[in-house]
Amino acid sequence: MKQIVLVGFMGAGKTTIGRQLAQRLQLPLIDTDHLIEARTGKNIPELFSIHGEEHFRVIEAQVLDSLADTEGIISTGGGIILKDSSRLKLKQFQSVVYLSVPIEDLITRIKKDHENPRPLFLNHSEQAFREIYQSRMPLYEDVATVIIENSGKDPQSLTKEIIEKVGV
Ligand code: S3P
Repeated sequence: MKQIVLVGFMGAGKTTIGRQLAQRLQLPLIDTDHLIEARTGKNIPELFSIHGEEHFRVIEAQVLDSLADTEGIISTGGGIILKDSSRLKLKQFQSVVYLSVPIEDLITRIKKDHENPRPLFLNHSEQAFREIYQSRMPLYEDVATVIIENSGKDPQSLTKEIIEKVGV
């Protein structure tokens, strides 16, 4: 069974790289945010505004749990590493790739991504958002089996780099 989980902050390229990896490796692409939306019938901003972040995290953890034995490329939401129990679960997946991107690049990308508004960006000052980034970095590093720097690299070479480093 082949299984690669992509983790990293919002805007790190998990969806784009996930698509490329799935195509190159001929594996299904699974997106935890999409599964949460399908399960609840609500989109992410609605879930945050109606039920709050903690409720979202509980569903996110359940969705992660349901994927333990699933083959494919699993693209996760940026906050999947927040719950201790979710980090423990992530460590049981075959490969966990952390896409590490400088915060300046992320802020630029998130501001441009109108199709995918991030409640955490909209609800915090830029300074507070930077602090969230800093506090999460060690959590991504904790669960990662491979760390990939993604600043200004094109998706194709990044995908190649991941395949080489993961060894699939
Ligand atoms: C979140 C990241 C989002 C989404 C939600 C919360 C986070 O996913 O799960 O808005 O806490 O970092 P992306 O990382 O795909 O933007």
